[in-house]
Amino acid sequence: MRIFLAGATGAIGKRLVPMLVSAGHQVVGMTHTPANAGALRAAGAEPAVADALDREGVRQAVLRAGPAIVVHQVTALGKMRNLKHWDQEFALTNRLRTEGTGYLLDAARAAGARCFVAQSYTGWMNARTGGRLTNEEDPLDANLPRAMTSTRDAIVQLERTVLGAAGITGVVLRYGSFYGPGTSLGEGGDFLEMVRQRRFPIFGSGAGVWSFLHVDDAAHATQLAIEQAPPGIFNIVDDDPAEVSTWLPELARAIGAKPPFHLPAWVGRLAIGDAGLLMMTEEQGSSNAKAKRVLGWQPRYASWREGFRRGLAGEQSGVGLLACPKA
Ligand SMILES: NC(=O)c1ccc[n+]([C@@H]2O[C@H](COP(=O)([O-])OP(=O)(O)OC[C@H]3O[C@@H](n4cnc5c(N)ncnc54)[C@H](OP(=O)(O)O)[C@@H]3O)[C@@H](O)[C@H]2O)c1
Repeated sequence: MRIFLAGATGAIGKRLVPMLVSAGHQVVGMTHTPANAGALRAAGAEPAVADALDREGVRQAVLRAGPAIVVHQVTALGKMRNLKHWDQEFALTNRLRTEGTGYLLDAARAAGARCFVAQSYTGWMNARTGGRLTNEEDPLDANLPRAMTSTRDAIVQLERTVLGAAGITGVVLRYGSFYGPGTSLGEGGDFLEMVRQRRFPIFGSGAGVWSFLHVDDAAHATQLAIEQAPPGIFNIVDDDPAEVSTWLPELARAIGAKPPFHLPAWVGRLAIGDAGLLMMTEEQGSSNAKAKRVLGWQPRYASWREGFRRGLAGEQSGVGLLACPKA
């Protein structure tokens, strides 16, 4: 199958390209950095250089590729520094999720693609209703801190655009929080270094529940979604949602760091703002039942407990590739 992958050089793209190529697919990988074209070629993909915010450039690149499936994995979160100014940190990603999605989708339809698969997110947007895991039908949080609302609205717009498009099947993958090679929670990543240096404390109760996802599991689920093209929204998370007060000390232990400090919520509000504090104390976990049932997906790292011990560095990727079925 011919696949156009926008964001082919990112955290998911890097893992997904070799999986798709080894399954026999032809991959055209989009980057807006000409210097990354060689790496795409080396991974077995045909590079296409275009800026996701350049409507005509994207249209030409997709038309040239002539894909059956278009996949949107473009974000710009590499320089995320200050959780207090959430919407500002996400501003470019929000444009990539709104304008960028529109351009790619229009191009996909013009090229006659039959399916569009897009990256979304599950976690801090889940309604804080207490206890139960969030599924794809549950409402999103209508009472988020003001600092997060533009980012939520951009994700909602992306999902509506993809699912509402006429003449093309829309698939939305709501990934949990990434960890593993090439992410900020992978070897050498910013957040992992903060944990190592005890600069990632537990604020307040630490009762926020996070659903994690290893990048190889994310790529595998994406491959299944590409090959099966089932319309709708899918949570792609591991089997083990866990409170910050549980996973953060475990992560520190896994990398040989000292345990995180505990600091009061009011210090957290000053340090990481309402957005960060929500994630520390109130976030709700997500259910992966639908993805397992419909896609037949099974995370190789069913729990972050094993993933943090064995999957933070790059050398595990080969195992992930072997776990993938052929097309
Ligand atoms: N669910 C999650 O937890 C989640 C979701 C997203 C990101 N993150 C994390 O955020 C951190 C940074 O990731 P990131 O946002 O830099 O994503 P990334 O996944 O590392 O890469 C972004 C991708 O988008 C492409 N891209 C960016 N701007 C573009 C543009 N204007 N036009 C065309 N392509 C463009 C990049 O291509 P080129 O650079 O080659 O041009 C690259 O392929 C990582 O730790 C990642 O794991 C987490």
